[in-house]
Amino acid sequence: MFSQNLNKLPLYLFDQIDKMKRSISDPIDFGVGDPDLPTPKIIVDELIKNVKKPEYHRYPPYDGILELKKEISKYFKKRFSVNLDPEKEVLVLIGSKEGIAHSLEAFLNKNDKVLLPSICYPVYKNQTILKGGKPVEYRIRFENNFVPDIDEIEKRIDSKTKILFLNYPNNPTGAKVNKEFYDMIYDLCSKKNIMVLNDNVYSEINYDDFPPPSFLQSDRDKTLSCEFHSFSKVFNMTGWRIGFIVGNQKMIEMVKKIKTNTDSGVFIPIQKAAVVGLKNIEKIKESNVKVLKKRMEILSENLYSKGFEFHKPLSTYYIFTKTLNNMDSLSFTKLLLKKAGIITTPGIGFGKDGDGFVRFSITLNEKDFYRGIEKIKRMKI
Ligand SMILES: Cc1ncc(COP(=O)(O)O)c(C=O)c1O
Repeated sequence: MFSQNLNKLPLYLFDQIDKMKRSISDPIDFGVGDPDLPTPKIIVDELIKNVKKPEYHRYPPYDGILELKKEISKYFKKRFSVNLDPEKEVLVLIGSKEGIAHSLEAFLNKNDKVLLPSICYPVYKNQTILKGGKPVEYRIRFENNFVPDIDEIEKRIDSKTKILFLNYPNNPTGAKVNKEFYDMIYDLCSKKNIMVLNDNVYSEINYDDFPPPSFLQSDRDKTLSCEFHSFSKVFNMTGWRIGFIVGNQKMIEMVKKIKTNTDSGVFIPIQKAAVVGLKNIEKIKESNVKVLKKRMEILSENLYSKGFEFHKPLSTYYIFTKTLNNMDSLSFTKLLLKKAGIITTPGIGFGKDGDGFVRFSITLNEKDFYRGIEKIKRMKI
C-alpha cells in the first residue's frame, strides 16, 4: 500500500540506541554530531533585526536571495580560488541533507547506479534507494586511512553507473583528502562520463595547516560535478536549516526544478543572517576550531591511553576508532554504555565495513565533555 522503496531501507539502528540511552541514568552523549556551541551573536542579531520586517515574511525566491548567492561566490573565490556565477552556479538549500535528497531525485532514473563509500553518512544510500536507484559501495578501509583505491572504484563502474558520491572531510571517519586525489577522481569520472557529488560540509572544521580543498578546484570548468556545503557546522546552525550547492550549471538548474516543485526555499531572515555569517567566517571559524581542536586533543589522548586504535582526525567532529578486543560495534556500544555510562555511535550504522568501529563526537557541552573524559579514564573493559 505504501511505497515499496521504504521496505528496502536498512534497519534504523538509532532507535535501539535511543532505547538504551533511556535505560541508563545520566549517560554522557558522545554519539550525536550536533554542535553544542551557540550560533554566534552577530548572526542571531541579524535574524532578529530582519524577522521584524513584514516584507521578509513572504515567500522567498526559490533559489535563494541574490545577496546570499553573491556572498557564497565571494567566499568560494577567496577560500578555493574558484569562480562561481551566483545566478547560475549557486543554489541555496534547506540544509545540505535536503539538497542531497533532491539532487538524487533530479539526476536518477530507475536502476541507475550510485557509487558511494562503504562507510558513510547514511543519507546517500537511503536516498538512492528511495529514488529507485541502486547503491554500489566502494570500499574505504582503516589501512588506507579511509581513502578509496581509485582502481577499485573504476572496477565498479559499468554502463548504469551515473553518480559518484564523495565526502571529505569525512563523517564518520574524520579522514580528509588533498587536491591530487580529487584530480585523479576527476580524470576517472570525465573518462567514464559520471557525475560527482562531493559532500564538503566539514570543509571549515579543520585542525592543521592544510585546509580541505573543494572538488571544483579539480573540475575547474564545472563539467561534471556539484558540491554540497552547509551553514550547520562552521556556524553552529544545525537547527536553522540552511546550506547550499554549487557547481555545474545544468545540474544546479535540474535541482532547482525539483525544489521549485517541492519546497519554497529558506526564510529570508535566515538567509540574511547567513550573509553576516559568511562575511565574518574567518573570526567565527577561528574561535570554534580553537575549542574543538582542544577537545579533539584531549579525547584522543585519553582514548589512546586506554588502548584504542584510530587515526587522529585532522578535521570534523569525529573520532572513528576500532572497538576494544575486536568486539562488534553494536555490542561494544552497549558495553560502553553499561560499563562507562557513555554513548557512542556504532560503526555499523554507517555501513557493514563500519562494524568493529565506534564513533565518538566532540560536540557535547564542556561540562559533560569533561565528565565523559573522567568516565573514560575510570573505565575498565
Ligand atoms: C556528511 C554530512 N553531510 C551532510 C550533513 C547534513 O547537514 P545539514 O543538512 O545540516 O546541512 C551531515 C550532518 O550531520 C553530515 O554529517
